[in-house]
Amino acid sequence: MVRVLFGLVVAVATVSNAQNIAVTGVPTKPGPNGAVPIRREFRDLQKNFPDQFNLFILGLNDFQAMNEKDMQSYYQISGIHGMPYKPWNGVVSTSDWEETGGFGGYCTHSSILFAPWHRPYIALWEQNLYASVQRVAARFPAGRLRNKYVAAAKDFRSPYWDWAMKPPNNGDAFPSLFVSRNISVIGTDGRNKTVRNPLHRFDFHPVNPSAGDFDESFSRWNYTIRYPNAAEFGVSHDEVISGILANEMASLRSNVGLLLMSYKDFDAFTYSQWDSETDPGRYGSLEDVHNRIHDVTGGRGHMSYLSVSAFDPLFWMHHINVDRLWAIWQDLQPNSFMSPKPAPYPSTFSTNWKQTEDRNSPLIPFWDNTGSKFWTSEEIRNSTTTFGYAYPETQEWLYNGNNTAYQASIKSAVSKMYQMNVFNRAMDDMRPVSKRSSLSARRRQQQTDGPVPPPLQHLAPNNTYTEYIFNIRASKIGMGDSFRIFAFLGPYDKSNPANWHMEKNLVGRVSILSRDMGNNNNSTAGSPRMDPSTLMTSGTIPLTSALLADIIMQDNFMEGSEPLQSLTPEKVVPYLQKNLDWKATMFGSDEEVDLMEIPMLEISVASTSVKLTDEGIPEFESEWVVQKEATMGRAGGMVDEQTCHGNYC
Ligand SMILES: *[C@@H]1O[C@H](CO)[C@@H](O)[C@H](O)[C@H]1NC(C)=O
Ligand SMILES: *[C@@H]1O[C@H](CO)[C@@H](O)[C@H](O)[C@H]1NC(C)=O
Ligand SMILES: *[C@@H]1O[C@H](CO)[C@@H](O)[C@H](O)[C@H]1NC(C)=O
Ligand SMILES: *[C@@H]1O[C@H](CO)[C@@H](O)[C@H](O)[C@H]1NC(C)=O
Ligand SMILES: *[C@@H]1O[C@H](CO)[C@@H](O)[C@H](O)[C@H]1NC(C)=O
Ligand SMILES: *[C@@H]1O[C@H](CO)[C@@H](O)[C@H](O)[C@H]1NC(C)=O
Ligand SMILES: *[C@@H]1O[C@H](CO)[C@@H](O)[C@H](O)[C@H]1NC(C)=O
Ligand SMILES: *[C@@H]1O[C@H](CO)[C@@H](O)[C@H](O)[C@H]1NC(C)=O
Repeated sequence: MVRVLFGLVVAVATVSNAQNIAVTGVPTKPGPNGAVPIRREFRDLQKNFPDQFNLFILGLNDFQAMNEKDMQSYYQISGIHGMPYKPWNGVVSTSDWEETGGFGGYCTHSSILFAPWHRPYIALWEQNLYASVQRVAARFPAGRLRNKYVAAAKDFRSPYWDWAMKPPNNGDAFPSLFVSRNISVIGTDGRNKTVRNPLHRFDFHPVNPSAGDFDESFSRWNYTIRYPNAAEFGVSHDEVISGILANEMASLRSNVGLLLMSYKDFDAFTYSQWDSETDPGRYGSLEDVHNRIHDVTGGRGHMSYLSVSAFDPLFWMHHINVDRLWAIWQDLQPNSFMSPKPAPYPSTFSTNWKQTEDRNSPLIPFWDNTGSKFWTSEEIRNSTTTFGYAYPETQEWLYNGNNTAYQASIKSAVSKMYQMNVFNRAMDDMRPVSKRSSLSARRRQQQTDGPVPPPLQHLAPNNTYTEYIFNIRASKIGMGDSFRIFAFLGPYDKSNPANWHMEKNLVGRVSILSRDMGNNNNSTAGSPRMDPSTLMTSGTIPLTSALLADIIMQDNFMEGSEPLQSLTPEKVVPYLQKNLDWKATMFGSDEEVDLMEIPMLEISVASTSVKLTDEGIPEFESEWVVQKEATMGRAGGMVDEQTCHGNYC
């Protein structure tokens, strides 16, 4: 928002305390109308801003190569999140995490501080990447080339990776740019050359700059890794990610759209903790979709573990997108912000379990630009311009203070990008690739004089239909390690858990990121053993697009069922009883987990009514109804009030 903190932004130049590294983002003086440089989707940066992209690769290599003992190095900044569980920049622990077997990183998860804490964290990373970008730009040969790169470097901001949008030009779901070992650039000598790709991995140099930075299990890795395979030590198999992600992208897209367009409350939108007040329409969260990306891209590599994920360069591309989604949402709901909550179990490096967290809680260890106190959520809530950037969707200054017009532009952009008109999306998915142009979409719109394409209009009388979501709730800590629940609609091979992520009838997953304590056995530490209900979590998977595809195809259902004909609950609930299924596997083994062993697990389906505006933008009813019969009486499903479930009642 352009309620810009001009004073603060200018004050950046006069940081006083030399010892405390101030988190400023890139010091920026906004233009006369409030304009600041844009963090762009990296494929946009690569295609349309090739000089900045070139600097990004060279700069990230420079940043990663910094001496790991330097507090502003890539290594040290990544180490704030989890391991090495040591003070960063002299900010010592103020919590009981060591005695209670808590989590030794500063990062906040399952907490109302989840989204705000990561904002200055990324700003700190970006201000140092920016410094590297300036350094490499200045190394080009004097003259035209150097002038060009120095000019491009000035407005450089880190790109992000939008993992939910349809990849441009039918590109890979997991961009090959993350997978290739080497990459072609124009080097600082002005020549074309191949360099190591800093987006593929970070090379530790050395692995343990200070004794014991990593425990034995993580000291095995000389670099960050994705999908390691026991048979070939040290080989990243990130080429498998694209297929896995492609299989779930439609569901991610629906999930992001649902969050941005239907969640109105900050606490519900941002973080994944569940309590008995949680509304059936609010089981999802930004943190929940964010967890899925850690799961899908990690494959038991660094991204899978909160304790080490920040060392993988992907973490930053991912979390900048998470920050972007928060910024977009916050500008749609400027009046909603966090309410005080007790910090979740267990303690972290700087927070004790049950300590109250609110908008004025210090975001430790991020010093504000005075270097004398920590940033708070309230101070960074309204404006990414505090840290000198905006996103393509949040250029509020373009609307001259007309907030109605600004919000309308956000809704329109979000609806398009995440294909929120499920009927148009279904038609698009059926069309051969060559015909899927925005032009034909526009023509279709003109012809039909309404948001729903004619062949599907009977499914949405008055442009209104019923939306369905799959909800899960479970103990976050009760399994002692991370696990995930897969949802399927239609037949799949139940006998092959390791392949469930590739099943064509997989609708999506909810990933429960347990706070691993570095692979030791104290992850539910504190004796006696913690009650699993101490930390409850929830997640959601939208079902409507998958149901719609079944209506259109008419041939994708389980034995004993009938093809689905409409989206009304009278038809959909019996269809779900026969065709909806769910399974769980552990992160660590990909082995099936007996659903009855997951403490406090409850799986349910909820629905609400949605009206599409003439522009095809969905408007969700606020009331959601639990469709109890859809999952009643099955393992993990809804139970009668009196029935006990597993060991829990
Ligand atoms: C990547 O570049 C290095 C040298 O920088 C070279 O040794 C290696 O063969 C290259 N790998 C590939 C796959 O091109
Ligand atoms: C680098 O290679 C690209 C094509 O791969 C070419 O267009 C460009 O002119 C080359 N630049 C230099 C400085 O050699
Ligand atoms: C890791 O690096 C060390 C030191 O350079 C080397 O001795 C070791 O072989 C490397 N391990 C692997 C798995 O690459
Ligand atoms: C942020 O916006 C809210 C709502 O418009 C306002 O009440 C609050 O004072 C703003 N905070 C800051 C730091 O500008
Ligand atoms: C703001 O924008 C809306 C929608 O674009 C428009 O209808 C309205 O007239 C504008 N308001 C002002 C004060 O310009
Ligand atoms: C559609 O809307 C009109 C007017 O709002 C109403 O009279 C009609 O009953 C609605 N039809 C259906 C099928 O809901
Ligand atoms: C953790 O417990 C398992 C089984 O109880 C055991 O095999 C493993 O060695 C233990 N690991 C550590 C680090 O103590
Ligand atoms: C686990 O906790 C026990 C008792 O608190 C402690 O003795 C042991 O060293 C811890 N193990 C690890 C791997 O941290």
